[in-house]
Formats: sequence, C-alpha cells, structure tokens
Amino acid sequence: PHPALPMPAALYGAQRRNSAGLDLASEATLAMLAQALQESRGRSWQGAPLLAIDAATDAVPQPVLNPADRRETVGTVIEATTIDVEQALVHAQRDGTPWGQCAPSERAACLERAADLLQQAQPELMALLMREAGKSCAAAVAEVREAIDFLRYDAAQLRAGFDNATHAPLGPVVCISPWNFPLAIFTGQVAAALAAGNAVLAKPAEQTPLVAAQAVRLLWQAGVPRAALQLLPGRGETVGAQLVADARVQGVLFTGSTEVARVLQRTLAQRLGADGRPVPLIAETGGQNAMIVDASALPEQVVADVLTSAFDSAGQRCSALRVLCLQDEVADAILAMLQGALAQQQLGRPERLCNDIGPVIDEEARAHIETHIAAMQAHGHRVWRPVPVDRDAIARGSYVAPALIEIERIDQLLREVFGPVLHVLRYRRDGLDALLAQINATGYGLTLGVHTRIDETVARITGAAHVGNLYVNRNMVGAVVGVQPFGGERLSGTGPKAGGPLYLYRLLRRAPVDVLPRALRLAGATPAVQEAPLLRLLREWAQASGQPALADACTRFAAHACHGAAVVLTSVTGERNEYSLHPRAAVLALAAQEPDRLLQLAATLAVGSRAVWPQEAAALLTRLPPALRTAITLVPDWQGAGLPFDVVLHHGTPEEARALAVQLAARPGPTVTLHSVPVGCAVIALERLVVERALSVNTAAAGGNASLMTLA
Ligand code: NAI
Ligand code: MG
Repeated sequence: PHPALPMPAALYGAQRRNSAGLDLASEATLAMLAQALQESRGRSWQGAPLLAIDAATDAVPQPVLNPADRRETVGTVIEATTIDVEQALVHAQRDGTPWGQCAPSERAACLERAADLLQQAQPELMALLMREAGKSCAAAVAEVREAIDFLRYDAAQLRAGFDNATHAPLGPVVCISPWNFPLAIFTGQVAAALAAGNAVLAKPAEQTPLVAAQAVRLLWQAGVPRAALQLLPGRGETVGAQLVADARVQGVLFTGSTEVARVLQRTLAQRLGADGRPVPLIAETGGQNAMIVDASALPEQVVADVLTSAFDSAGQRCSALRVLCLQDEVADAILAMLQGALAQQQLGRPERLCNDIGPVIDEEARAHIETHIAAMQAHGHRVWRPVPVDRDAIARGSYVAPALIEIERIDQLLREVFGPVLHVLRYRRDGLDALLAQINATGYGLTLGVHTRIDETVARITGAAHVGNLYVNRNMVGAVVGVQPFGGERLSGTGPKAGGPLYLYRLLRRAPVDVLPRALRLAGATPAVQEAPLLRLLREWAQASGQPALADACTRFAAHACHGAAVVLTSVTGERNEYSLHPRAAVLALAAQEPDRLLQLAATLAVGSRAVWPQEAAALLTRLPPALRTAITLVPDWQGAGLPFDVVLHHGTPEEARALAVQLAARPGPTVTLHSVPVGCAVIALERLVVERALSVNTAAAGGNASLMTLA
C-alpha cells in the first residue's frame, strides 16, 4: 500500500466507482463460479419481447443453444412480431417522455442502482455469457465489468453537468447490438440513450437474446420505467429493419457489420427527424487492424500481446488484431516463437480454465472463416494451424482451430475475417511509410498496435495513422470505459467514441453550444482557447470588411473548438492514456447564402479542418485573402466519387436536407455525416467536425515503471 496509490474501486476518484473484478486464481472464487454455472444450467432462461405492458402470446419459444456444445439448451426465446414492434413504438412515444423529464440526477441514480445490481449478479451474468456467447471466464469478468463501467460513466456525466433546460433528448431511440459483447455493448448503448433521456427500443443480436433480457430486467428493477426501455428480440432483417424504418424513431445506435451500417444509413436517409433534420446514426463497425513490430521490440512481449490481441475471444472482437506486420530482420525469429506459443493454446469449452480459445458464435460464422482459410491456402499462402483439435468437440460446437497465414500485401485481404485468423506480413525497415500507407488504404480505421522501443517511431506512426485507438507496447483489445474511449473512423464507424465524453451529446435534440469544452472538462482537462491561425485570418478579414456577425462567430467558435486539445486520462499505473481531438479531413460546405457559407468556413477553420466548396462559390473564394484560399478546395461536382470529405455542413430547408442525405447515403465508401441547420442559423455543432483519438502506451515496457519509482 502507498497513500498515493488508490485502491482499485477508487481508481477514478469520487465521481465514479470502478467496477469490481474476480480473482480467478482463488479457489473460493472458482468454486463460487462453478456453483453459478451449475445454477445457470438448472434454470430455464427466457428471452421474449419485454414491453411496457405485458402482451399475451401464443408463439412457440425457440431454443437458444450453447455454441460450445449444441446439446446444451441455454434457454428459450420468443422473437418479437410486427405487432410487438408496433406496440413498443406506441408505448415509447406515448409513455416514454416522463423519463426524459425527470431530473438528470434521478436518471443518474437509476443507472447507478443498475450498476450495483449488475455487480451483485456478476456470477450469474458470467455464467450466461459463457453459455450463451461462448465467452471464457476471464472475458466474462471483463464484460460484466465493462457494462457496469458504462452505467457509472454515463451517470457521472449526467451529474457533472446535464440540465433538462439546456439538454433535450431525441425521443424514441433504437439500439441494435451484436452478439460478440451481448452484455457490454448492449448495456453501453442502452445506458447512454437512457442517460440522455430517450425512450429506448433495444434489439439484441439473434444469437444472444437471453443475457440482453436479463440486463433489461435488472435495469427495470433499478427503476428505469418500462416504457423507457423495451426489448425486442428478433432478426435484424425483420425486427431491426422495421424499427429503423419507422418515422417515430429519432435516433439509431448500431454496432455490427459495415454492410448493415450502410443499409441503416440508406433507410434513415429516407426521412427526417421530428425536428426536420437528419436522424442521427451512431455506427460502430469493423476493422482491418494491424500491429507494427520493429526490430527494437521485445519478442517475448510481442508474442504474448499478439496471442491476446488476435485469439482471445476466438478473434471475435472488432478491435482484434488481423494483420501482424513484422520487420524483416526479426520476422523469422518472432514467427517461430509465435508458432510455438500458439501450439500451446488449447481449444475447447470456454468455461474450463485450461482452455484458451472457445467457439465462434455459430456455424455460419465457422463456415465463413474456414472458407477464407481454405481460399488463402488455395492461393498459395502459407498457413499454420498448430493447435490440435478434438473431433468430438468440433462435432458438438462451432470451433475453428486458430490459423496463422502469411501474406505479402494487405490488399490481399478483401474484408474483415471475424475469427481466430492472424495474417502475417513482412516489411522492410525503409518501407515503414509504405506500410502505413497500405494500412490507411484499407479504408478502415479502428485499432492499430505498435511494438517498438524507439520514441521517434511511435511518433511517426501516431502521426500518420488514421485510427481511433492506438496501442503502444501492449495488446490492442479490451478498451476500458473512460480510459480508452473506443471507436473508429472512416469504414470503422461514425463516432463519437463509446465510453468517451462526447457520446451522450450525440443523443440529444438540443445541446449546449460548448459541447467540446464541457466534454474535455469531464475528461479532466482545463480546455484553453486556441485560435487556429487561419481562423484568426478569417476573423481579421471579417472585421476589416465590415462583417461583425462573422467576426463574432469566429471568436465564439475559437472558444468552443478546443483546437488541438489532448488530455491524459486517469488510469492504472504503468499505462499512459491520452485522449485527443483532431479535425475531420475535410468539410463539404453547402449553403445558398454567402453569410452561411462563411459561417461554415469559420467552423471548419476553428477545428483546424479544410473546406470543400462547390463551383458556385468561386466568386466568394476570390474575395478571400490568399492564405485562406489555401484551406479551401473548389470542386466542379461534389457528388463525384473520389472526393475526400468526411462531413457535410448544410444551411437549408428540411426538404433539401433529406435529398442530400439520400445522395450521401448512395455514395460508396465510409458513412459521411450530414449536419444540417436552417438558413441563417449561427449555431454549428463543432463536435460534428472532429474525430476523437485514444492512445494507450504501456510505459513500463521500457525499463520498468518510472512513475512508481518516483512516487513521493
Ligand atoms: P450484423 O451486422 O448482421 O449484426 C449486428 C446486429 O445488426 C444484429 O443485432 C443484427 O440482428 C442486426 N441487423 C442485421 N441486419 C439488419 C438490418 N437489415 N436492419 C437492422 N438490423 C440488422 O453482423 P453479423 O451478421 O452478426 O456478423 C457479420 C459480420 O459483421 C462479422 O463477420 C463481422 O465481420 C462483423 N461484426 C462486427 C462486430 C463489431 O463488433 N464491430 C460485431 C458483430 C459482427
Ligand atoms: Mg448479419
């Protein structure tokens, strides 16, 4: 003990209690878990539509089977019918509003009670996660903890500065979650939507309705009104699609495949929200995540971190390592060590501590992954699968023996392979920039790992990588709420980051104008006003040319943009976690009136981004000071394919906004967000023009934990 080292529960200070883990090396704990598993097997778990008012049903419940052993029925599920979905929407719209009107502190108290209930139910929830989702013990501990952390993080944010007078919810919000984190992502989405005051319609993944149903029961028990949280288990193409297409729905939170995210974007583009503006979609999708290992890295540590990053949870994490990039000089040595380590891994039922790798979620997933491995082999790539497989286990569950596959270039991979498959690529020392270009060229931007002892290399990679989460000298999975805010860019997601300070604000219809400074203060920073150089130029030009309103806007935006902000987040000793804001690549500015376009330019320059202007603004461009013109690209046809802008600012009518949303949704490539406001509106949500990045560095990797050694 040391007075300067907080106990685990107090790690995040007085505002937010840390979730508790379990000691899996303790015999007593293991006996307790064995008991919980036994009890779980003896119970008949039920998933069904959980609506504001119980509805009678004559539907036949379908069995939910354990992916590790399909002879075991975990429970049964009744999927929602179109009538259930309609009922839920009626309740949400009619009776969901009082939740948003109760004081933020009351909502916070509710979420905190739910966190405590989840903590009490940890063994029971873990047993369900192991049996329904094929999680290992350790992964199940981490998942329950993450769910608890989300609830407390959102509660802390409510207490820190939410006010119903200035913060208004969207209305009914749909949460669509995946099976790979059936409790953590499910709870994370639901808790955020509830915290912001919205009525939630939650659709869990087909494969994992039982743990979601249990989470909803606990949230109800904690005091969340039934009309504010309803569960609609069922298929994405039916239940999910019906929900997203419904005009009453005012926002969608989605985690899953890039393909489905696009479908949702197209559906939402067909209509406007109750405020006549585009319906917000927060999509968190996949990645083609790489780790770069240079010759200065410690091979033993690389191998341990690679095993965790690529094969934990059988590789079924969106953050998981897919492409290991080894510098030529050390590739053979590390590969040999990695093969040896992999050969020691054991495949099998995840609740047995001796097993390292559990099943994949279902036979469809297994077939996909095996098809990929076979195709790579057929194309002449070297494939290693050193883990012996138990034929009996394979016959009963969905197991994939882990694979290492050598590739020469990243573009040999056509899409994300969501399983225990690690591709290995060699690169030349002088080819680092080309490698970074290859990684960026995948179009994804979720996680990136770096193993090196050279600070300049870290800086070079950090500076060039377009990814949401960067990890140095550590594994690259298991982001912690509030410590490594999680989420990607471009094809990997729309932002804001889950477990980060901006998330709740995206779930509001009306938010304060100073969202970015508020978020940074919440993250522990004291945001300073940093006027970007080009913004100053614009302000001076506005003053000199008699445009006081524009000059005022420049001053206001400078105060609210938090240009270049970075903050070190509180975390465990031995790790440095930095959260920073960066401008989006380019902002397409669409406005019919000159003052609106200049206002858009001010917002763009305030965050440090670049502007893309349509041809009709050419005359205005020539009147600007030459230095300002360098930040603006004039394009003859913004709808042309390869144009690089990742957000659109629009001043105009709702009808224009809708047409624009349809056009944007039809474009190939990443989701482009549209921020549309009425003509003459001087308020622009600057948070829409930035991306958030999280950097996590294992500071103990190079020569010990200096911060411990220097503790006063
Ligand atoms: P998916 O994207 O189809 O499913 C995710 C959720 O979306 C589920 O709740 C599903 O029911 C729902 N959904 C599916 N189609 C829908 C539609 N048309 N409208 C509304 N909701 C819909 O993902 P799936 O099929 O489970 O896995 C396919 C691939 O997606 C994986 O191989 C992996 O590459 C990726 N994936 C990524 C995840 C991540 O954490 N980023 C999680 C799960 C899958
Ligand atoms: Mg699917």
